[in-house]
Amino acid sequence: MRLLITVARRIHKRHLYTPTSCLSSAASCSGAATNSGLQFRDDQLVCGSTGELVQRLRGQVEVRTEFISQEEEGALMKELEPGLRKKRYEFDHWDDAIHGYRETERAQWGAVCEGVMDRLRAVAFSEGSPLLGPVHVLDLDKAGYIKPHIDSVKFCGSTIAGLSLLSDSVMRLVREDEPAEWLNLFLPRRSLYILRDQARYKFTHEILKDDESLFSGQRVPRHRRISVICRNLPV
Ligand code: OGA
Ligand code: MN
Repeated sequence: MRLLITVARRIHKRHLYTPTSCLSSAASCSGAATNSGLQFRDDQLVCGSTGELVQRLRGQVEVRTEFISQEEEGALMKELEPGLRKKRYEFDHWDDAIHGYRETERAQWGAVCEGVMDRLRAVAFSEGSPLLGPVHVLDLDKAGYIKPHIDSVKFCGSTIAGLSLLSDSVMRLVREDEPAEWLNLFLPRRSLYILRDQARYKFTHEILKDDESLFSGQRVPRHRRISVICRNLPV
């Protein structure tokens, strides 16, 4: 599985572009309280180079705030922290897609966490869609970040769904063959994001480092962040 994690990512050179003003996808309602104190409505969590692009990728890019409760986040941490603490953060692999991280997988969960995973699978994947066995857990140090990459099409299917624990963050999507097309996703602590289809295959995704972590012109401080990621298998 270690091998799978390693080959799951194809690295892309960072594209340079000037962020323009963010546009909201006219999605849904309610507000998001976050650990950086930032407040965005649910329909303001995805913004991009043009409103047309945001609209075009609606349905392929989703952020659900407060997907898990504080208690569920605590239960996940309690299960994950002992194993993660035995590992060291890896910083120096210059060719790695990820900088400042440690990672693990998990196939079995206690009752509370299994409930969370069931809910995640129900909203992110269609029934019967075969999933990649164990769930992937990625622990990013405060100084860690994920460079632009596309998950391996050989090992991962059309859908990637991730929970964010401990910290808010910004995920950026850039179209591989047209870097002027980009989206930024605000990922509040305890939210779920889902990338599907074109958003998953045609766009690189990355998690911004602390000193570049801006969303809609507002700073989103990046602390240690743990993601719990489910993927399906290629058909
Ligand atoms: C990955 C990845 C995103 C995240 O591990 O391939 O893109 O939310 N992770 O941690
Ligand atoms: Mn990825």
